[in-house]
Amino acid sequence: MGNVLIVGDVHGNTEHALKLVRVAAHRDCAKLFAVGDFGAWEHTPAGRRYFDVVNKAAKKAGITVYFLDGNHDKTSLLHELYDEQRDDEGFLICRKHLRYAPRGHRWTWEGTTFAAFGGARSTDKGRRLAWEARKAEQIDKRRRYGSSKRPDTAGTLWFPEEEMTDDELVELLAADSSPVDVLLTHDKPRASQPKWNRKDKPECYPNQDRIQTVVRALRPDLLFHGHLHVRYTDTIAAGDGDWTRVEGLACDPDASQYLEYSTDHTWYVLQLPYAGADTAEPRSLPA
Ligand SMILES: [Fe+2]
Ligand SMILES: [Fe+2]
Repeated sequence: MGNVLIVGDVHGNTEHALKLVRVAAHRDCAKLFAVGDFGAWEHTPAGRRYFDVVNKAAKKAGITVYFLDGNHDKTSLLHELYDEQRDDEGFLICRKHLRYAPRGHRWTWEGTTFAAFGGARSTDKGRRLAWEARKAEQIDKRRRYGSSKRPDTAGTLWFPEEEMTDDELVELLAADSSPVDVLLTHDKPRASQPKWNRKDKPECYPNQDRIQTVVRALRPDLLFHGHLHVRYTDTIAAGDGDWTRVEGLACDPDASQYLEYSTDHTWYVLQLPYAGADTAEPRSLPA
């Protein structure tokens, strides 16, 4: 049970999360790691229930579920609730079998070094802010009495902390920029070229550039990410003659818009200890 099942965006889809837990157990994975947009919505009753259900299933399967933050996770609340509650490896304990890897977090499993850098830009920010405003209006209308104060729905559908700032990145890399074997992110690095890219938009480039900066600093052999909701493999230059193999993972079936979608595009079994650079050679060398 030394392997890790790395999985794409779950978006709080309980059925899909339970399937992934079963896959992990069947594939000898004692750990499941979700690369963001996991569904950290503990500001809602449904979100808290989702965490409870995943925790219970993980306990039953004898595994631990880890996740980093995506743009659709309420990261600020994870820190508010669990910052003081960390395990021996520095993960935030949300539930006994459910743990969060904050931005810049590093750890070692079976001699393989990892780092997590969550966050991304939401391209539907405008729509989400409009929903929040509409929800506030509806609550207001339903109230017959009470204060005239507008109900606060800010930060319920769009999370201002969704992407790393440049200052945050500088600070994280200044704290530690030594190389790792495996980098886990939510967003794609700017240089990778997926077969289908729904985030090829100028507003998304700054955060993709930040991930690219992380790749150049940490020079990982492997990088796993979500956010694009498509399965692809690419190899990008990491600087100093190093290469990084990028594995993009697909999302839960309900959120997928990719025509060639298949559920097994949503996970990857990483065998530990990681065998090393021979599995991370570029498919083709640049001309
Ligand atoms: Fe997503
Ligand atoms: Fe995302």
